[in-house]
Amino acid sequence: MTAFTVTLVLVAAAVGLLRWRRPAWYWLTFGVTLAVVRVLARYGSVMDACGLTVPPARWRLALARATNRPLPEARSPRILRLRPTRTGLVLRLKLRPGQDAFDLAAASDRLRHSFSMYGVTSRELRSGVVEVRMTGYDVLKRVQMPTETDTRPMRVPVALRQDGSVHYRDYRAIPHALTLGATESGKSVYQRNLVAGLAPMDVALVGIDCKQGVELFPLARRFSALADDPDTAAEVLDALVVRMERTYQLIRAQQRIAADVPDAEIAADIWNLPTDMRPVPVVVLVDEVAELALYANKEEEKRRDRIITALVRLAQLGRAAGIYLEICAQRFGSELGKGITMLRAQLTGRTAHRVNDETSANMAFGDIAPDAVLAAIQIPAEKRGLAIAGDSSGGWHRIRAPHTSLRQAVNICNRHADRTPDLPELAPYRPALSGPADAPAQPTEPSPATA
Ligand SMILES: Nc1ncnc2c1ncn2[C@@H]1O[C@H](COP(=O)(O)OP(=O)(O)O)[C@@H](O)[C@H]1O
Ligand SMILES: [Mg+2]
Repeated sequence: MTAFTVTLVLVAAAVGLLRWRRPAWYWLTFGVTLAVVRVLARYGSVMDACGLTVPPARWRLALARATNRPLPEARSPRILRLRPTRTGLVLRLKLRPGQDAFDLAAASDRLRHSFSMYGVTSRELRSGVVEVRMTGYDVLKRVQMPTETDTRPMRVPVALRQDGSVHYRDYRAIPHALTLGATESGKSVYQRNLVAGLAPMDVALVGIDCKQGVELFPLARRFSALADDPDTAAEVLDALVVRMERTYQLIRAQQRIAADVPDAEIAADIWNLPTDMRPVPVVVLVDEVAELALYANKEEEKRRDRIITALVRLAQLGRAAGIYLEICAQRFGSELGKGITMLRAQLTGRTAHRVNDETSANMAFGDIAPDAVLAAIQIPAEKRGLAIAGDSSGGWHRIRAPHTSLRQAVNICNRHADRTPDLPELAPYRPALSGPADAPAQPTEPSPATA
């Protein structure tokens, strides 16, 4: 008997420890089963308590009265499917007449407490069917990306969303993006994850890092061009504009075709070109864009205007030529001078890490999703890397990228160094490499002074 009690106590302690230290393992071993049992057992009463039931149909009531039977109970949304996942449960519900998706969204906090889950979100799948995603633990505390992600060209699984799903940076859907955040908020780590995700793909990377190149130069082996001061940056951007114009000429040449060619085969962007002719897409990463937009004298002002004009042109016309912008900034407002708000309007994807004031958050979301502004200023300072990601449709998610160290990113870039394409227009800016391919002389972690 005592042996049994001791074993029981030991197992309980082990489970408790697992839940505390390794919530992801706990969820996969015990949590998921317990949660399924809990949700199914409490479902009816929780829906009733949360006001998510509707009265029984009239004919049932009439029938019950006529036959003198007990009156039927109120009806909850019908469970179409209950699917356990790596991080939580996904419940698909069929709404009853008179209910709407907003009822469930408004009750999500009550559902979270009632089912003892960490987070509950809901979204409409189609008319009458709502998906409720629950997470069993704080998936953003220690981000672990699933090993299996949906890979497609130019689509990078870059972070994890609060509901446990993967957040993709899809360059073909959202060509240009802006990443905002105060200093030390996680912008460079996010960008590093993007580089690591893009490294195995068929893409040319161009980096502009005016903080002496501390963030991007260690990854130089995978970059087709790098600039570490505003003068080089201006030249690189001009060269990109030339490349864009050449690509357009190529597309135009390809369009000069007989009248009987079906519409679908007429090339309007590089993805419609035959694979052997298609120019390699280019992702331009800019860390700390303010360094490019500030000036102290007349000469620098001219250079600044040249840089911003090139960026605006790339943002306006680059998509079809396969040139995508990825811009990081601490602030990105009109105080950086003329052309900035015009550039911002072209950057569809928005990600805001922790910001210090509402105006900075407004620069990311003020014009697309006002409630995301509030969410961005509420990010706690100690949760670095946590961010709000939105797009122009007004939807937004809380995301966090995995903490990829510079060393890991360097290794990934070195492994895929042979994929680095040569861009003829940018050849002079290709970083000069010294040492063998596996040269280890890079710092392991960025020092705080580099942030
Ligand atoms: N996704 C993340 N998960 C955990 N820690 C992070 C994450 N992103 C950033 N950090 C921490 O915050 C520090 C600063 O991040 P960094 O990207 O350099 O900030 P920024 O470029 O915005 O100044 C990093 O050194 C790292 O320790
Ligand atoms: Mg940085």
